[in-house]
Amino acid sequence: MSRVVGTHTCRPAAHREAIIVVRPVVRPAEPIKVVVTGAAGQIAYSLLYQIASGAVFGPDQPVYLHLLDIAPMMGVLEGVVMELADCALPLLTGVLPTANPEEAFKDVAAAFLVGAMPRKEGMERKDLLAANVRIFKEQGQALDKVARKDVKILVVGNPANTNALICSKYAPSIPKENFTAMTRLDQNRAQSQLAAKLGVPVKDVKNVIIWGNHSSTQFPDASNAAVKIGGVEKPVTAAVNDDEYLKSTFVTTVQKRGAAVIAARKMSSALSAAKAASDHMRDWFLGTTDRWASMGVISDGSYGTPRDVVFSFPVTISGGKWKIVEGLTITDFARQMLDATGKELLEEKQDALDVCKD
Ligand code: NAI
Repeated sequence: MSRVVGTHTCRPAAHREAIIVVRPVVRPAEPIKVVVTGAAGQIAYSLLYQIASGAVFGPDQPVYLHLLDIAPMMGVLEGVVMELADCALPLLTGVLPTANPEEAFKDVAAAFLVGAMPRKEGMERKDLLAANVRIFKEQGQALDKVARKDVKILVVGNPANTNALICSKYAPSIPKENFTAMTRLDQNRAQSQLAAKLGVPVKDVKNVIIWGNHSSTQFPDASNAAVKIGGVEKPVTAAVNDDEYLKSTFVTTVQKRGAAVIAARKMSSALSAAKAASDHMRDWFLGTTDRWASMGVISDGSYGTPRDVVFSFPVTISGGKWKIVEGLTITDFARQMLDATGKELLEEKQDALDVCKD
């Protein structure tokens, strides 16, 4: 589409003819509705700015934010709304704070499901799972009713993989491929550990994979990763040249990084979790470039993993659709690690389904 923006008459009057200057009309994009749950919590506090500033959906995409939290948090949420207004962000066209999931999910194109019950002292893993699975069952039902059918859903609240599975089960009108769980924080941690080990900028390491569950059974795998050193790309395994480190210290450091942050900060990772959520959704909307992303997606049994659990795989993304990277070699060590995390996901799934029957 174009429109005439002006005419020139710079020739002598006798030969005067209009030179029409035509410039494309760039129509501003329609705002998309984006929901963040747990909007009064600490991850949301960093995430909302990233979304509203254009870091996720691009610098030309206006957003209308829907903020969901529970009723007792509405006062705190009001403060967050004030701060968003005070940021004077050009891409933010509106904000809707609410404690009603159906209002929050109405017509959303993207959903960051961050809100979940935190683990309290003396709480067993199973109790936490039970409490949170109920939240994600209810939110699945609400999404099914009122969200756009092409909504892209990222579950951050733990246990993220199983919450995503349950959410999808209760939203049958939305494709299963549209429900994902966040393992990008683990990927970013792994990439950063390798960059530090090799003394290179973090951007020069790519294709580290997180397999499986976002839990201590996850498998951070550097066996297909590449690093650029002195302008030349080479396998991380060759550059590190320490198989024992890659199978032990590297793996456990990434697996236990969340606990290390809690021990130091007395609160769980929030800034880095928000950054990872932004990275995940940005890649999903705008596509991966020369590197893979790890995300929890519905398993089709690739690489001998259990089907129908939300399992983290390496993916490439184009046109808003993810695709599992195929043809990677799975070593005996990797096989054991994949089997262990797959087994945990099957157990979590069973526990969650038992809770949902009540
Ligand atoms: P937070 O406790 O600061 O905030 C959580 C918010 O969720 C609170 O405002 C709470 O009121 C709200 N909430 C609780 N139930 C809700 C419901 N039914 N609907 C809407 N909101 C609800 O917690 P934070 O630090 O923001 O973490 C949120 C979640 O993210 C936790 O489950 C945490 O374990 C998880 N997490 C996941 C990571 C990942 O890599 N997948 C990384 C870091 C945290």
